Amino acid sequence: MSERRIYIAGHTGMVGSSILKKFQENGYNNIIKESSDALDLRNQADVEHFISAKQPDAIILAAARVGGILANDRYPYQFLYDNLAIESNVINAAHKNNVEQLVFLGSSCIYPKQAPQPIREEYLLSGPLEPTNQWYAIAKIAGLKLCQSLHKQYGRNYVSLMPTNLYGPRDNFDLETSHVVPAMIRKFHEAMKNGDSPVTLWGSGSPKREFLHVNDLAEAVFFAFNHQLDGELYNIGTGSDISIKELALLIQDVVGHDGDIIWDKGKPDGTPRKLLDVSKIHSAGWHHRIQLKEGLTKTYEWFLQNIDGLKMRSLQAN
Ligand SMILES: NC(=O)c1ccc[n+]([C@@H]2O[C@H](COP(=O)([O-])OP(=O)(O)OC[C@H]3O[C@@H](n4cnc5c(N)ncnc54)[C@H](OP(=O)(O)O)[C@@H]3O)[C@@H](O)[C@H]2O)c1
Repeated sequence: MSERRIYIAGHTGMVGSSILKKFQENGYNNIIKESSDALDLRNQADVEHFISAKQPDAIILAAARVGGILANDRYPYQFLYDNLAIESNVINAAHKNNVEQLVFLGSSCIYPKQAPQPIREEYLLSGPLEPTNQWYAIAKIAGLKLCQSLHKQYGRNYVSLMPTNLYGPRDNFDLETSHVVPAMIRKFHEAMKNGDSPVTLWGSGSPKREFLHVNDLAEAVFFAFNHQLDGELYNIGTGSDISIKELALLIQDVVGHDGDIIWDKGKPDGTPRKLLDVSKIHSAGWHHRIQLKEGLTKTYEWFLQNIDGLKMRSLQAN
């Protein structure tokens, strides 16, 4: 049991809900949470009032405007502004109210498009970003710099974690806006139900990517929180990657689809490889635990149990 008051911003999201569960399972009963309807984190005055009234001991910042390539490309202003506003409001209010600890969540897209592989933390700002998600990436870089500057200038214990691609329960299964794992789960499931009809997937299948189960990320957040990691930046991933083709075969097997896979080579492949170097967080003592096949199996089970209430994030600006 811990009496510490932890504010989890974004507790309804895929990441925030897993972090909430992790803290609750570990005896944290003083969790502060507020819906985005009641508190829009883009509103500075409301955020300041909320943090000052609640006086949390620590904040986990898992609220953000998140989306795939299409959403980023169509709404660059919202991806830049909303994320800048959320981060600066929450981090500044935390500092002004002497909140002892803050864990900020960014994303591996902060690194340059052509970064050497595997990507080490020091490659930050060493080259141009991927143009489609530069808006989101710049906001996330600003967020981690806010944390670093507060650490440097005031000794604040505000740490930034940069997770690789995540998957798991409560993911977004809207085919227009989703990431690769939920999109494949849904496509294979629907094709299986449709008499094992063929599944068409984007690109050649050759790019390699890294995937981390969201519950492993929640463990990493809990670890960072308990080990008082300093104001640095830490990559969070598995340290290994697989090709999109291998991923498709794994998901096809988990779902039980027995039809053809067609690779639409007219669609872009994106960066050939994106793998994080996780030696820094490994040296600190954290390792992931959930293997990909096991994580995909659990995610598919969750999908089946929640098929009538899946999150479908539509393409929209607000
Ligand atoms: N998903 C991934 O693959 C991935 C990978 C790396 C890093 N991350 C990071 O993990 C964090 C969370 O991502 P996620 O996948 O959990 O996203 P998500 O499922 O879309 O959840 C986002 C959360 O932020 C809240 N939120 C958004 N705008 C808000 C606002 N203006 N005011 C208050 N709350 C707001 C949402 O509330 P509502 O539900 O009420 O809208 C929701 O709780 C992000 O920082 C992201 O960069 C995610």
